[in-house]
Amino acid sequence: MRRRRMLAAGALAAAAALALSSCGGSEPEESGEGGAGAESRGPITYVQGKDTPGQLKKIIDEGWNAKHPDQKVTFLELPESADEQRNAMVQNFTAKSAAYDVVGTDVIWTAEFAARGWLEELDEATFAGPDVLKPAVETGKYEGKLYAAPYNSNGGFLYYRSDLVKTPPKTWTELLQYCDTVAKPQGIGCYAGQFAQYEGLTVNASEAIASAGGELLTDSGKKVAVDSPEAREGLGFLADGFTKGYIPREAITFKEEESRRAFQQGQLLFLRNWPYVYGLANTKGPDTKIAGKFSVAPVPGKDGVGASTLGGYNIALSTYSKNKATAREFMQFLQSKEVQSQILTRESLPPILVSLYDDPALQQQIPYLSALKEALLAAKPRPASPNYNEVSLAVQKNAYAALQGQKSVDQAIKDMAGELERAAARN
Ligand code: GLC
Repeated sequence: MRRRRMLAAGALAAAAALALSSCGGSEPEESGEGGAGAESRGPITYVQGKDTPGQLKKIIDEGWNAKHPDQKVTFLELPESADEQRNAMVQNFTAKSAAYDVVGTDVIWTAEFAARGWLEELDEATFAGPDVLKPAVETGKYEGKLYAAPYNSNGGFLYYRSDLVKTPPKTWTELLQYCDTVAKPQGIGCYAGQFAQYEGLTVNASEAIASAGGELLTDSGKKVAVDSPEAREGLGFLADGFTKGYIPREAITFKEEESRRAFQQGQLLFLRNWPYVYGLANTKGPDTKIAGKFSVAPVPGKDGVGASTLGGYNIALSTYSKNKATAREFMQFLQSKEVQSQILTRESLPPILVSLYDDPALQQQIPYLSALKEALLAAKPRPASPNYNEVSLAVQKNAYAALQGQKSVDQAIKDMAGELERAAARN
């Protein structure tokens, strides 16, 4: 089923690539530095995962297309799941297709895509200036050079029903007390995150492991560190959730959107999810029963607040693009204060410009803004590796087996460590 979905996404991308490559555009000018099309302008395509908050097309049409009739941007959305997006992009790049000019790349793909020669190097002064969040810039680098420009950052929040819980839990022990005293009597599920087997589970498992003081790899991804009591406690918090019932059974199928819907329908007391949920859950209408009845807090941990996994998307320029001058200017537009404040206020996405977090008017409009900045600066990046996909699979597969009760937590951590050793050896 999963494989079929992946193939379907790939076929879709290939068809889109063919359709688009026959649409023309201005002829590429050959130039020395920067490769084909470095100085060319003309229509381009921007590709990223599904824009769940749904405002970006309008932002691009109004802010860019209306002003650049000869350099129009076609906005192409891929599926919601990061894994399916990566498959479509890998297919496109492997075919050396010029269909995607600017690609929205998850923070974890930079090393792989750059190592395979698919991304143009970017000028740091232009795309990673002093106002750009440092941790986000780091995710765009490979071997010391910038290949992807920050677009939106991301960190996990604990969403909680503020009509039912006055003080949000800082620790897992406090959270479990609320499961007994509030969720049970209310007849609702207590906690959920993203537990289907995909990148989101890698995020949730590494977040739980880090929140108990453990880590996956150390020494720039070269040394495996996961075989520890802390990692067992972290994964144990999630696995126990399923056996003891504080995580509802159906959460084993949750990705971001399924978990958001469950929370919005009032079926959960607590939800771990990204900031994009805030705006959607708070917009009164038939899709949400909890507008005005929830708030956000840092993710909880074993002995105090936990450590969120650093997420986010960067924008990168395909080596195969034929209109690279337009592409670079469009990327600057996406990083501009104008667009960055729109994605914050209209899409609830964490911007990458520090000055926006410190803006008093925005702080008033967005109650969680200062907390978000702190969370992003403290968030833990996932390992940077050209081999990241294999690293993530080792985590996803074994965490999933533990959550399903197919492996004990101890066995899952041992197997995870073994598979990470093999992946790290190839780094
Ligand atoms: C979010 C994050 C991204 C992460 C993904 C996992 O989109 O921004 O970094 O990999 O969720 O589902």
